[in-house]
Amino acid sequence: MYGKCTVGDRWSSQQGDNINNPGGDGNWENTATFGTAEGATSDDFKAYRLKIFKYVLVNILLCVLDGIYYLTTASGAEYQTFCDMTTAGGGWTLVASVHENNMYGKCTVGDRWSSQQGDNINNPGGDGNWENTATFGTAEGATSDDFKFRDFNLFNGHTLCAHLRLRFRSNVVFFDQIQCEFEPGFITFRTINTERAALAICSGVKPTGCNNEHYCIGGGGHFPEDSPKQCGDFSSFDWNGYGTNTGWSSSKEITEAAVLLFYR
Ligand code: G3P
Ligand code: CA
Ligand code: CA
Ligand code: CA
Repeated sequence: MYGKCTVGDRWSSQQGDNINNPGGDGNWENTATFGTAEGATSDDFKAYRLKIFKYVLVNILLCVLDGIYYLTTASGAEYQTFCDMTTAGGGWTLVASVHENNMYGKCTVGDRWSSQQGDNINNPGGDGNWENTATFGTAEGATSDDFKFRDFNLFNGHTLCAHLRLRFRSNVVFFDQIQCEFEPGFITFRTINTERAALAICSGVKPTGCNNEHYCIGGGGHFPEDSPKQCGDFSSFDWNGYGTNTGWSSSKEITEAAVLLFYR
């Protein structure tokens, strides 16, 4: 504390109090990293991705409320996301939403998390939006159409598995049908069904059967079983009719919900 902008003052300046250096060391903005997680309570620590998650940190520091935030890239482009500072301690950033705008359209317009190009055996990867850097939608519209955050492609591998939390808009976590085919209490990524179609995420469940097209979302561009009937963002939620909540069909509430993906 007796050192005034000296060594160790990484979050202000280590170069002395200097009228010509109002920005200090710039570590709130730059990509430098230092310290370790183990030593974080006794010295400064800055993780690899801090710059990316700057908005989260700032939101926590300022104790701001839930809402839409406008962020600016290094090149000055403005983009937005939604921050949930209420649920389970807050600090949640909306990174994506998956919405099935037309259950009757089978891999048609709006099926961005599977394919908008029809069910096609020659296009098993579909539109590729789980992997590419394309973005779409807005945080404001995330409960009524697909949304993909600008930095979504950075939330991959272990980061995604460790930190992603999924909630339905309606707070209905578990699907209300087909419960003999899954075990609750998990989030599952990239599951394969009987016919070898890939599904992207199963919210709140771990499949124990092979008909996960009825309760997992997103996927590729080819669902072989009774093609094209299962192709779409909410794959085969309507196998026994739209919103009937019988057999292999989900309820209307589930079918019309948006799945919101938050990062913390
Ligand atoms: O995904 C369900 C399907 O594989 C079997 O349907 O009509 O024979 O019970 P069904
Ligand atoms: Ca559709
Ligand atoms: Ca969609
Ligand atoms: Ca099936």
